[in-house]
Amino acid sequence: MSVLTVPSTYPISSAATRQLQRPLFGHVIDGETVASLDGGTMSVIDPASGEQIATAASGTAADVERAVRSAREAFDDGRWRFLAPIEQERRLRRLASLLAEHADELADLDVIDSGLLRMYAGFIVQFAVDGVEYYAGWPTKLHGSVPAVPNEFIVRQVREPVGVVGSVIPWNGPTAGAAFGIFPLCAGNSVVLKPAEQTPMSAVVVAELALEAGIPPGVLNVVQGTGESVGAAVVSHPQVDVISFTGSVETGRRIQAAAAARVKRVCLELGGKSPSIIFPDADLDTAAATVMMGVWGASGQVCTCNTRVLVHESVYDDLLDRVVDGSRGLHIGGGFEPDVDMGPVVSAAQLERIQRYVQIGRDEGAELVLGGERHGDRGYFHQPTIFASVRNDMRIAQEEIFGPVMSVLTFSSEDEAYRIANDVEYGLAAGVWTNDLNIANRASRALRVGTVWINTYQMVYPSVSYGGVKQSGQGRNLGEASLDDFTQLKSVWTKVA
Ligand code: NAI
Ligand code: MG
Repeated sequence: MSVLTVPSTYPISSAATRQLQRPLFGHVIDGETVASLDGGTMSVIDPASGEQIATAASGTAADVERAVRSAREAFDDGRWRFLAPIEQERRLRRLASLLAEHADELADLDVIDSGLLRMYAGFIVQFAVDGVEYYAGWPTKLHGSVPAVPNEFIVRQVREPVGVVGSVIPWNGPTAGAAFGIFPLCAGNSVVLKPAEQTPMSAVVVAELALEAGIPPGVLNVVQGTGESVGAAVVSHPQVDVISFTGSVETGRRIQAAAAARVKRVCLELGGKSPSIIFPDADLDTAAATVMMGVWGASGQVCTCNTRVLVHESVYDDLLDRVVDGSRGLHIGGGFEPDVDMGPVVSAAQLERIQRYVQIGRDEGAELVLGGERHGDRGYFHQPTIFASVRNDMRIAQEEIFGPVMSVLTFSSEDEAYRIANDVEYGLAAGVWTNDLNIANRASRALRVGTVWINTYQMVYPSVSYGGVKQSGQGRNLGEASLDDFTQLKSVWTKVA
């Protein structure tokens, strides 16, 4: 296996350079970083150049079998779940500290893997650190309860881990995805983590740091490879008790159907078509700047992107002018280049998907007011693209594109705004821009979504639950409610003689 050369134009940390010199980003099974049993590999592509930058293992069901067996054994012998809770906390905190020490390295790898701008990658890694720190506090706080029952009995309801959690994660924010995979450890579970095939690198580093932090071998395993082979094998494995998945609705449906065969619990975070609703009294400067950030940040590849911008007719022209003017001069380039506002999208396939949707928007008769083309001919860049006069029944208003494409719609009354906002199969998030307290309160009730942001957007914090309604998914990430997804209650009855 050849060692690829790192382009000298990358201003990356020496630790990240060392990582890129690994011959293979392998699986992590039973505490060892290993190749696939059949020797299978896949290329790690830098979306800014379209070139191969490293090699990762690409596994099969046989590798999943090894990883699940390891996770199961670790669970059954209690090497992690029977450690004293305070000791579990200590080790998870050590992991958060190690992630923080390796933050630059992980952010550099995320840029090369996914095309994020370095600044965003830094935020995302910090979010991963904060998340692990937050969950590190839970082992001593997982209380059961003692319900009221007739006097001759005592009942304890105990909160137990579910067993082996299969975490299938996407490519947008690879280190954060890996961190989300680790959170179930706080309840004593074992984990088999399946990174996206586009972004295999940081999960290996995270799993190795978990070992260094004292999370015992086998408790956290990583299996690399495609969704069709490795992902599907994790989902259907009889010894995997719960599936935690983030990604597309189509794949989420397939996973839920496969899980149904074993009545397996699934937690699904499936993206959205989130509206930002701008009322006439809003602070238009802030609203315009924030909706631009919401779609151009990460090149539109965040599940909560406000890709439907709903503007009251009285401020529609004003707002549209601000957004078009503000977006026209954006600098497009690789994540490490200075003064770049928008990076590439993750892959050639994603770029093609965006181009397909732009054509759909044109064919549907939406008014293309900015962009619409691929940017350059190297790597996977697309211009920031704005469609105006979009009707909500157009596909570009209904379907998740996952690229830098904004649809601008108009409304004339508050009720119409909520009707349009809710008239979509998704229900992940919504933004509301108003200084009228009553509108803000009515909107927060009317919107059928998992998160409402009022005069802000895309805020997340580890203590705040996050997830969707309707086809945006089920279950919750983050916050106390997420514990319900990877723990289960056992009721223990005792007769008092
Ligand atoms: P995807 O949903 O197919 O992939 C996400 C993860 O699921 C990856 O790890 C993949 O390997 C795995 N996977 C795929 N098929 C599987 C199967 N049958 N069983 C088990 N695991 C499977 O998303 P993809 O193909 O990368 O992107 C397509 C579209 O999905 C994007 O354009 C975007 O609209 C949406 N998406 C949404 C995300 C979000 O955060 N809401 C994240 C990634 C993609
Ligand atoms: Mg797919």
